[in-house]
Amino acid sequence: MSLAESTPLPEEDSWPPAKPAHVIVVGNEKGGSGKSTTAMHIIVSLLRDGYEVGTLDLDARQGTLTRYINNRRRSAAAGEPLPLPRHQFLQPSELPTRAEAEAEDRDRFDQLYAEMRVLCDFVVIDTPGANTYLGRLAHSHADTLVTPMNDSFLDLDMLATVDATGRNVEKLSVYSEMVFEQRKARMQRDRSSIDWVVVRNRLSNLNARNKQDIADVMNALTRRVGFRMAPGISERVIYRELFPRGLTMLDLLEAGESASMSHVAARQEVRALVEALALPERQPKQQRRAAE
Ligand SMILES: Nc1ncnc2c1ncn2[C@@H]1O[C@H](COP(=O)(O)OP(=O)(O)OP(=O)(O)O)[C@@H](O)[C@H]1O
Ligand SMILES: [Mg+2]
Repeated sequence: MSLAESTPLPEEDSWPPAKPAHVIVVGNEKGGSGKSTTAMHIIVSLLRDGYEVGTLDLDARQGTLTRYINNRRRSAAAGEPLPLPRHQFLQPSELPTRAEAEAEDRDRFDQLYAEMRVLCDFVVIDTPGANTYLGRLAHSHADTLVTPMNDSFLDLDMLATVDATGRNVEKLSVYSEMVFEQRKARMQRDRSSIDWVVVRNRLSNLNARNKQDIADVMNALTRRVGFRMAPGISERVIYRELFPRGLTMLDLLEAGESASMSHVAARQEVRALVEALALPERQPKQQRRAAE
């Protein structure tokens, strides 16, 4: 697999924001929970709202976000009018000792982070489904942490272990402990906090009872573990189908390629999710340009 190089946008398309970027990290140590899919939807939604968006793929092994953005770039080059992010990816250091490797990872991350913070309104970072140094580092830089989780009791384990009643937390998960540590690191570094938002992914219409049970337990967990909930995303084949073109249904609807009810409903879900993130107000690029 060849990974993309960074995407410097044409100068005339660049209108740097007045404030440093707001950083959204998408994380969950559990593999396949929908991190990259959720990241793509947040990215396209912000691009379509006219923002300068930076994207950073820390999952070099899979490179899902990078492949998606490469596909999107190819569609744009073939004539589709698609807004593109400034994309970067980071390979973990291969230096021999852990201390050396972590120091190199930190330097590279800090450099990319500093560049993107100045150039973009929002930076979206996709992290690997494993506990890695770069993943932890990214978490500590999140203004908003979005954690997608599959909609099952099994996946609740990645937040905490609950007792048989489903109401009492017995023990935080290693992932929740890690977020707790990174929150502390963040507070020490710049006195800022991390808004942690959990999103249920692949909601199905089946099994409404089970779904409600999970929602009840999640609500019981929010305070104890320190996150809040945002509306979830349904199971939809369209998410997989659009990957090779680097599109989301937001693009299809915008281009008039589709007016299907199910795509309109899917767009509504993504909008509801992004709205629930309650991101800070920014002036879209067009308005900045007009004000010059
Ligand atoms: N809401 C959804 N509806 C249908 N398919 C989905 C949905 N969310 C994710 N998928 C599919 O599930 C698979 C895993 O999703 P994704 O790659 O986004 O997860 P991930 O958390 O990034 O995985 P990893 O930990 O391996 O990086 C992909 O094939 C994706 O297309
Ligand atoms: Mg992924």
